[in-house]
Amino acid sequence: MKGIKVLATGRYAPDNLVTNEDFTKIVDTSDEWITTRTGMKIRHISDGEPTWMMASKAAKHALDNAGISAEEIDMLLVTTVTGDFYSPSVASMVQREIGAFHAFGMDLNAACSGFVYGMDTAYRYLLTGAAKKVLLISAETLSKITDYTDRSTCVLFGDGAAAAVLALGDGIYSSYLAMDAHDAHVLYARTHDNLNPFSTKGTQHPDGFTGAKDHFLYMDGRAVYKFAVKAMPEAVERAVEQAGLSLSDIDYIIPHQANIRIVQTAAKTLGLPMEKFLINVAEYGNTSSASVPLCLDEYNERGTFHPGDKIVVVGFGAGLTYAAAVFEW
Ligand code: COA
Repeated sequence: MKGIKVLATGRYAPDNLVTNEDFTKIVDTSDEWITTRTGMKIRHISDGEPTWMMASKAAKHALDNAGISAEEIDMLLVTTVTGDFYSPSVASMVQREIGAFHAFGMDLNAACSGFVYGMDTAYRYLLTGAAKKVLLISAETLSKITDYTDRSTCVLFGDGAAAAVLALGDGIYSSYLAMDAHDAHVLYARTHDNLNPFSTKGTQHPDGFTGAKDHFLYMDGRAVYKFAVKAMPEAVERAVEQAGLSLSDIDYIIPHQANIRIVQTAAKTLGLPMEKFLINVAEYGNTSSASVPLCLDEYNERGTFHPGDKIVVVGFGAGLTYAAAVFEW
């Protein structure tokens, strides 16, 4: 069995820090409410930095840590829901910025499950030999789709990017990717309306997605919460089982950092201690697909992981997507 090897990781988050206290100046909220309901304290919010720029900075950090040049990368895969252009892709902009001119590249949108979907996609390309070194980057500027007049969502989201250089390895790898669109309407952000001059009917939304204001992110928090506390343990269990392991074999779980209470509930369902779950939600908030690799890089930098450690990455989000992957450090 061939596994996936994380050669190095890197990250970038904007310097502009927004605290819970800062939100009390723009909406009716409190540090106490945000802390107890979500575990969040600070988010990094873009001060004009576009997604491609954050992605490129994270990518450079990962390449420096790997000790390899951008020309050695043959696949550039970016996960994002907040690209800067309809076209070109963020991957294209990153290639231009970091000089990875021997790579093909594309963007992948699986919302907050993006990093796990991206890791799995990278694995498939590595397995066939179509790529030898993949630079996987997850980058998000959620602040540009956040409605800062809506207290129920605006306090939750932050910006940032993180990257991993991936190659084929000898350890374990398995994954479980899923999507259930029955409830896709509980979490979404619409693109711009079609205002073409040949339309006689004007803008139509024949999708029944009615909750959002303009192109801002809409979320039915309670519905997403219910989905998340079921989806996360299910994805972890399935990926671990497929790897031929049991939950007690797992050293660390890196979950999507949407809410500390979701992780606590999932830990209880799985019968695992919270110490196995790596968390940084207090310092970043929810950064969608960037949240898992931001956490991976922070703990990697601290020297948390050792060869042979069995790690699970798990995400859930719009779509509704959910996914987990097991790999060996
Ligand atoms: N500050 C103060 N009060 C707030 C608030 C805020 N920022 N946001 C909402 N409230 C209020 C609500 O208006 C509501 O008031 P009411 O009882 O008078 O109607 C009350 O707090 C409770 O709201 P509720 O939505 O039930 O809170 P909750 O305990 O479910 O927590 C979330 C809300 C969003 C934190 C929680 O539902 C959640 O984490 N959902 C999942 C989010 C998620 O994972 N999203 C990303 C998926 S990728």
